[in-house]
Amino acid sequence: MTVPSLPAPRAGDLLRALKGRARPFDPRPWSHFKDERSLRVFRRGSLALAASAQALRAATGRALTLRVPAYFCSEALQPLREQGVRLHFYPIGEDLEPDWERIAEAPDVHPEEAQAFLLVHFFGFPRGLERASEFCAERSWVRIDDAAHLAQVEGLRPGPFLIQSPRKVLAVPAGGLLFASAEYAPFLPDPRQTGVMEHTASWLTRRLVQKSLVSLRVSWHRVRPFRARRATKPIDASAGCDPFALGMLNAVAASLPKAAAKRRANFLRLLESLPSRSVVRPLHPQLSLDACPFALPLVCEGDCGPLVEGLNGEGVPALRWPDLPPEVLETPERFPTAIDLAKRLFLIPVHQELSERHLLLMEQTLHRALQGGAA
Ligand SMILES: Cc1ncc(COP(=O)(O)O)c(C=O)c1O
Repeated sequence: MTVPSLPAPRAGDLLRALKGRARPFDPRPWSHFKDERSLRVFRRGSLALAASAQALRAATGRALTLRVPAYFCSEALQPLREQGVRLHFYPIGEDLEPDWERIAEAPDVHPEEAQAFLLVHFFGFPRGLERASEFCAERSWVRIDDAAHLAQVEGLRPGPFLIQSPRKVLAVPAGGLLFASAEYAPFLPDPRQTGVMEHTASWLTRRLVQKSLVSLRVSWHRVRPFRARRATKPIDASAGCDPFALGMLNAVAASLPKAAAKRRANFLRLLESLPSRSVVRPLHPQLSLDACPFALPLVCEGDCGPLVEGLNGEGVPALRWPDLPPEVLETPERFPTAIDLAKRLFLIPVHQELSERHLLLMEQTLHRALQGGAA
């Protein structure tokens, strides 16, 4: 048996999306904030992030320096780089929270430019909210909350901008959301309306094949091994969501609370099944009330490569962080923790479409593979 790394769409959602594809995107089920926020929908989270930078530059009339955690997927920064946003990487701690002390000690960078701070809620665990508010208020930095890994952001008190990437956590072909506070709403760029149907068609084919293989209990990882995710094509900033992709976002919105609850339950179940003496430690030994896990992140004592390969060979789609920005890799003395975590951290899926059989297989395989060393 092979465990699917991503959720496949439900037949009912596909039908609803097909029927409702002439309807506009409905923002209501996605908006859970105390203040009033404008929402724009893009094809990907990275395009939503780039749009927040664009809005900030338009609102201030200045160039922008954006502080980004050193532990960040390099591919997702491409649209920001194309806009000429100055990226300034900041160090993170062992728990992936910003290293506030070192950030506070660092000298100002390009004070003539507008300043923004990207706070990433890695793997669906909101982190550093209060500290970030104080920090940004004291320095007049604009906070952008990156909740790309969170299926649901209910209860979160973000800064003026927040992004989400439903395409990462739900069975939808596209979707990157940008929420902006009233102050910045007039400066938000309009998303492109030209969706790429080929992209949606290829997503649909892959997910439907996956669905059939799962129901036939085929072990497809033996024929097509899991591969490390690598960017193959540059992100096309000119493409938007096509009507079917928007229809899918509308169709799955009602199931957000259920998906979040399932992810939490799967996370806890796998966490509890880890052997007490293990060669890995969970990055989050507890599940906070505001978390909506993207995956179960585990940290190895050394390079996690062999362990990930072993798990993949058993049909468990354990995943490594894809890459780090070149600026970070070129200055290891400044970012030892980010580089170290990229080597040692891996993810086990907890998505809402995992079946009882998938969970059992993962529990047993993890137990076999991880017991041994002192955690
Ligand atoms: C933390 C984080 N933010 C944003 C993004 C970009 O999201 P998308 O892949 O939808 O462009 C990623 C993607 O890897 C990410 O890991």
